[in-house]
Amino acid sequence: MKVGNSAGLRELIMNYVATSSAVTRIGSIDADSPPEDLRDTVLSLITHGYAIVKMTSMAQRAVWSALDEISRTLEDMRADFCFPDRTDGFLPKGGEHAKYTDNVDLCDRFCYWHKHRSLHTGHPFVEALAYQNIAKSETELSSFAQRLIDGLWDFFRNDDHVSIRDSSYLQLCLYESSYHEDGRTYLQDRHEDGHLITLIKPTRDGLVIFLNDREVSVHLADDEVIVITGSLLTMLSDGRIPTMYHAVRKPKMELARSSLVYFAIPDLRHSYTTLLGKDRINIAEFADESHRAFGNTPLI
Ligand SMILES: [Fe+2]
Repeated sequence: MKVGNSAGLRELIMNYVATSSAVTRIGSIDADSPPEDLRDTVLSLITHGYAIVKMTSMAQRAVWSALDEISRTLEDMRADFCFPDRTDGFLPKGGEHAKYTDNVDLCDRFCYWHKHRSLHTGHPFVEALAYQNIAKSETELSSFAQRLIDGLWDFFRNDDHVSIRDSSYLQLCLYESSYHEDGRTYLQDRHEDGHLITLIKPTRDGLVIFLNDREVSVHLADDEVIVITGSLLTMLSDGRIPTMYHAVRKPKMELARSSLVYFAIPDLRHSYTTLLGKDRINIAEFADESHRAFGNTPLI
């Protein structure tokens, strides 16, 4: 992969920080809130590959309710709302595995794609509080992720419009304590997601990120979400934005854990220009291969 012009990146950062004053929130901002400013978050992603952001009360309600309600969904409801042929709905443990090892992820999943929502009509689960809060969470997180991606593209003064909502998805991971296995250090092995960015809200500790190959535990307050970068963003930035590798560590106690994750994927029907070099590249094949490497169905 070509490495971009570091002098150019330095200059962009100098111009950018000069006017920065940070207020970053996921979710709808009410009239009394200070104006949103994503610049510190954008800079943190560019320089470190991660950022921690706050949710508004509305976003917190949707996200925490979704995480709470999903685990109460009964077995027959889960079986009715299961669409593995499009990586959608309830997907039991075993369907997804680590990208670089054969270890399955020790969790059940629920995937929600905005583009598939019309296919859900008529299923009883659509009436459930869990589904409604998942849909609300997707609205809040997709809107924030889009603003963040627009902010990244603005930073590099790139005029491409990268639209994500109809190609991205939300996933809830339910790590039951009974799924723990002796001999496994991680419930989900070290990997990177292969997308642009990923937003993660876990219910408890366990998420680790690898900063310069050093494992660091992520501890978040109730209203916080971590944003991490994926290799698609690294590729689109001519190698300048780092890819954040991460994993889920098995807790010492047998505790259940869940997380709500938003994977931001660009519209793969278009080609884009790289952020620094401004080279035209087609990323569809790379994105698709990366997504299928986890055991998922194709993106294209
Ligand atoms: Fe991941």
